[in-house]
Amino acid sequence: MGQTLPKPGLRPFLPDDVPVLAAIFTASIEELTGEDYSEAQQQAWMEKAEDEDFGRHLASDLTLIATIEGSPVGFASLRGKDHIQMLYVHPAVAGQGVAAMLVDALEKLAGGRGAQSLSVDASDTAQGFFAKRGYVAMQRNSITVNDEWLANTTMKKTLGAGQ
Ligand SMILES: CC(C)(COP(=O)(O)OP(=O)(O)OC[C@H]1O[C@@H](n2cnc3c(N)ncnc32)[C@H](O)[C@@H]1OP(=O)(O)O)[C@@H](O)C(=O)NCCC(=O)NCCS
Repeated sequence: MGQTLPKPGLRPFLPDDVPVLAAIFTASIEELTGEDYSEAQQQAWMEKAEDEDFGRHLASDLTLIATIEGSPVGFASLRGKDHIQMLYVHPAVAGQGVAAMLVDALEKLAGGRGAQSLSVDASDTAQGFFAKRGYVAMQRNSITVNDEWLANTTMKKTLGAGQ
């Protein structure tokens, strides 16, 4: 894996972040999910960055951005008090703990909002990441995204004291 990166920071989402987050979203799908999804599925998924809802949901959910030396490298969002809606890391910094830092923060925020547990519809690419953090598979789903069927897995973690 690449060299160790400077420690990432975290900050809240701002409306001007939408284009850079769309670029992280598409790069992450294109380069990190190819072993789990077909090219047609990846294409349909990446096209979601062009929906008006993409920016609208980032703004209405609680979205956190991971930065390295001030530049966004990943983002994650909490919907309501207990659902992780988005988690995407730029392939150039994958495997360096950026997603772990984002999800640590979302777990604390969910706990602060009074959630007893946290759920996520994890992509097949992210399932191992969430399993390692104690999320348990509850059900397998097939969803349609721009006319393609994609599988994911609803996973859930009980939030303990101190989270
Ligand atoms: C899944 C994803 C967010 C992980 O991001 P990342 O920054 O590379 O993950 P981290 O470096 O924080 O990983 C933390 C730990 O989880 C492990 N991990 C990461 N991905 C894993 C996987 N697919 N399977 C098993 N373990 C995994 C890492 O090895 C690391 O373990 P360590 O603490 O022992 O070193 C990233 O691969 C991604 O953006 N994927 C494409 C988009 C996607 O599928 N998003 C999820 C939508 S629900």
